[in-house]
Amino acid sequence: MSDNIRLDKFISERTELSRSVIKQLASKGGILVDGAAVKKTDTKIDPKKNTVTVSGRVLSARRDHYILMNKPEGYVCSTGDRDGRTVMELIPDDLRTKGMFPAGRLDKDSTGALIITDDGDLAHRLLAPGHHVPKIYIVKLARPFQNKYIDKFAAGVVLSSGEEFLPARIIPAKNCEKLAFVEICEGKYHQIKRMFAAVENHVENLHRISVGGLILPEKLGIGECMELLHKDVENLFSPLDFEKFCRDFEDDFSAKHINK
Ligand code: URA
Repeated sequence: MSDNIRLDKFISERTELSRSVIKQLASKGGILVDGAAVKKTDTKIDPKKNTVTVSGRVLSARRDHYILMNKPEGYVCSTGDRDGRTVMELIPDDLRTKGMFPAGRLDKDSTGALIITDDGDLAHRLLAPGHHVPKIYIVKLARPFQNKYIDKFAAGVVLSSGEEFLPARIIPAKNCEKLAFVEICEGKYHQIKRMFAAVENHVENLHRISVGGLILPEKLGIGECMELLHKDVENLFSPLDFEKFCRDFEDDFSAKHINK
């Protein structure tokens, strides 16, 4: 079977360039196939045999895959099945590739945005300590929110064991005294649960609504997956404005569910 694909499709799947930008670049000689400029972007190429260069950068033949899952409760973020049901079981066959793994963890009882990929470099950029990609969660607390949490979280919670967490931001929900938005920039074991335990509260539910600049779409039902495009993946590294995001999220929620 032939593995030939259109040049513009090959490039758009591996870069953030749109088809129209690819066309413009090609017309100016910015796209080379095996060292020769190719102006017609519907030219068919064989990624295994041809080398494609875009503005001086050689594109890899391998295409990485990215999935955004709305993780349900009861599944562990792991590729092995020793721990029971894993999120990998929820990936539809047409989205699954060899070597996929969850890029980050949510606890078995947590829900929400989870990236699953076969791109080890992306996982490293997302997870390596020091990279600090912010993640936003909605937290349901056992006891009412207290304003003192804001400064404590901003200063970086320190546990009685001496373990320290990086500064985090927290905003109480307007319409419910036991709901809050929390933004953390690291992913330590049971981090948010332990931060609230340190201020004598308790997390009853934890739902992740964003990773970097990528927001869990409302249309993605619990347990569902969608494939991410290259531009969505780049969004991961353009963080949201936390305060504005929380305000808009609540206004939108009220408009849909309360002020009807
Ligand atoms: N913090 C937690 O405590 N649990 C999660 O699943 C994510 C962040």
